[in-house]
Amino acid sequence: MSTGSPENRIRHPLPEPGWPSLEAAARARLFSPVRVGPVTLGSRTWVPAMVPWRATLEGEVTPALIAWYARFAAGRPGALVVEATGIRDVPSGPLLRIGHDRYLPGLTRLVEAVREASGGETKLFIQLIDFLAVKRRPEPAVYFSRFLRIDQGHRARLAALTGDPSWSTADEVNLRGALLGLSREQQAEVLTAREQEALDYGHRERVTDLELPHVRSLPEVLPGLFAAAAQRAEAAGFDGVELHYAHAYTMASFLSRTNDRSDGYGGSPEGRLRLPLEVYRAVRNVVRPETVVGARFLADEVILGGSRVEDAAYYAVELARAGLDFLSLSKGGKFDDAKQPRVGHSVYPYTGPSGHECMPTVWSDSVGPFGRQLPLVRQIRRAVLAAGLVVPVVAAGGLNTFRLAEDALLRGDADIIAAARQSLADPDWWQKMREGRGDEIRRCAVTNYCEGLDQHHKEVTCRLWDRQDLESPLVTLRSADGKRRLVAPGPMG
Ligand SMILES: Cc1cc2nc3c(=O)[nH]c(=O)nc-3n(C[C@H](O)[C@H](O)[C@H](O)COP(=O)(O)O)c2cc1C
Ligand code: SF4
Repeated sequence: MSTGSPENRIRHPLPEPGWPSLEAAARARLFSPVRVGPVTLGSRTWVPAMVPWRATLEGEVTPALIAWYARFAAGRPGALVVEATGIRDVPSGPLLRIGHDRYLPGLTRLVEAVREASGGETKLFIQLIDFLAVKRRPEPAVYFSRFLRIDQGHRARLAALTGDPSWSTADEVNLRGALLGLSREQQAEVLTAREQEALDYGHRERVTDLELPHVRSLPEVLPGLFAAAAQRAEAAGFDGVELHYAHAYTMASFLSRTNDRSDGYGGSPEGRLRLPLEVYRAVRNVVRPETVVGARFLADEVILGGSRVEDAAYYAVELARAGLDFLSLSKGGKFDDAKQPRVGHSVYPYTGPSGHECMPTVWSDSVGPFGRQLPLVRQIRRAVLAAGLVVPVVAAGGLNTFRLAEDALLRGDADIIAAARQSLADPDWWQKMREGRGDEIRRCAVTNYCEGLDQHHKEVTCRLWDRQDLESPLVTLRSADGKRRLVAPGPMG
């Protein structure tokens, strides 16, 4: 269950699915083609990015990762987006990477497997991500003895707090020991807000840390890094890229109203959008015209002082005007309101209220988790249309029945329906719907067992199938502890 669920939550039943007959599916808008820039999707169905934690520690594609994507492709969605993939050539734990040409053979195999499993029907995109450093929550003793950078401010504040002026000239080792020995309330008086956050949550860099050279220079380096990654994606055979401008990561932080950078890359709507536009143009300049370039960004950050739907509508219009081939919308998923992690663990952006907005569960407020983001998506799509621009808008968030998906399309809320967890629960659900076999669909319970695994960087699986037929010799791909199968049952499972 998501720990970000609202207080006073109520349990919502799964909605009536309204699965279509074969004939109704043939007439459905959901299964009608849609143009996405230079390509046409066979249907308006989309599996959005989902990190499955199956890459190696060097960020390489593995057989389990290929099996994961081939399994989604067997359900023949119109588009499948490969997980957030790091664009830099730096160690990033088990995150998939595309920051060097050595990743090309693995990524090429992945593309080939998806083409084969979908009979060429599914268009394949890859989500490109950059992120800043997030450290684990430290032991207080380690924080005070090693991590805290002592300056005159600490000496002065400790002297004032204790009424002992000798702390103003105290030697650093003594000072560190004294700070550790203070009560939490006293520590709060001596530490800055950022230092307190580093102690309680782990140090987290921000795009506004202009005193850090590698943060100040992000506008100089990121366009080139994204462009090189996009070229690699193209060389590996992907149909396109999704620029990750959403959730808790670098580009979303540039778009955030909290971005008050004073160097022209923040502080106003135009300033906040400047780097996202420059990154897009750099990518567009190097890829072929037949390669799709889209972006995922937030319809609402849902944090104090963050960007709201009006900001998102402005971004959408300008991104569409610049020529992006699709706009995929998400909501929330920020570090700012995340729960405090245990010592030794990292803060996870899907644990607070904004996290619940991103991946809502059946434990929700009166609005409930199903189609919760649609009113925002509709507002943004209307703003794009009102500006005379035509670009497909992708909606996500609890869209896990035919009725919800089809109604959203017919109302004009969105042009394409993305379903992450329902596709994980049953990767064949699109095909079953299309063939009038809706009653065979394994329905997602929307309780976020999968998200819990993601939080701990464990191989993501679904509670509804990961113990099924475990003793069968045909089930060859298992989690590290051998207790869970890694691929959903069914074809290729
Ligand atoms: C395990 C897991 C991993 C995810 N990883 C990503 C990701 O890499 N990039 C991204 O933009 N969204 C990611 N998401 C969010 C989904 O794409 C989607 O927006 C969200 O789950 C809501 O859609 P749903 O209700 O259909 O699941 C992830 C979701 C889950 C459950
Ligand atoms: S574990 Fe399976 S059933 Fe539970 S939320 Fe995730 S996809 Fe749905």
